[in-house]
Amino acid sequence: QLTRPEASLLLAWYDRHHRELPWRVDPKMHAAGIRPDPYFVWLSEVMLQQTTVQAVKAYFLKFISVWPTVVDLAAADREEVLKAWAGLGYYARARNLIKCAEEVVDRFGGKFPDTVEELASLPGIGDYTSAAIAAIAFNRRALVMDGNVERVISRVFAIEMPLPAAKPLMRACLDAITPQDRPGDFAQAMMDLGATVCSPRRPACVFCPWRNDCRAFAQGDPEPFPFKAPK
Ligand code: ADE
Repeated sequence: QLTRPEASLLLAWYDRHHRELPWRVDPKMHAAGIRPDPYFVWLSEVMLQQTTVQAVKAYFLKFISVWPTVVDLAAADREEVLKAWAGLGYYARARNLIKCAEEVVDRFGGKFPDTVEELASLPGIGDYTSAAIAAIAFNRRALVMDGNVERVISRVFAIEMPLPAAKPLMRACLDAITPQDRPGDFAQAMMDLGATVCSPRRPACVFCPWRNDCRAFAQGDPEPFPFKAPK
């Protein structure tokens, strides 16, 4: 008997099993009204678009020690920033990083805006990054869809339509289960579930808070989801 995938089950799992990462604030702190620095969230999300969590940690810590605020980064020596970025790849991204920092200073007085629309108006910030910053830094109910989240959603709802055609359907499913309360923790919990329990190969369904709600699990084998259109 399948039940609805309740956000509360995933959030309870996240409270116990979240990964501790240098740009995060503990969910207990969130409950006390303490949010992560939007600059840290932005910087980590841009870095994570091309590199693994493990590799990003050291780069992130280096950046925030040399440039602790977006104002510092906007005033930084270009060459120094590009040098610190070396190894992360895609210099275009580092250039956008500097442009974005400058615009946050020039247009928003050095404070990141708190809406998806304003965030998406900044250089290098697209649909994914604007939603991630709005949700994680400002606890806004934005839909944060990355590869991990696509996998979790495709399995919980047993979406057989292949990617990329299935993206709008996946967004609608994510919208249906994203809570009003704690949307920032929910977004990060989806990422952590996808990165740890709901892994691409041999998912660890015995540890999944949504095991009884997962249509792919009920059908027998979640591993093949999400389906992808042949290239
Ligand atoms: N991958 C992309 N963004 C992430 C985040 N905020 N936490 C963990 N993994 C991520």
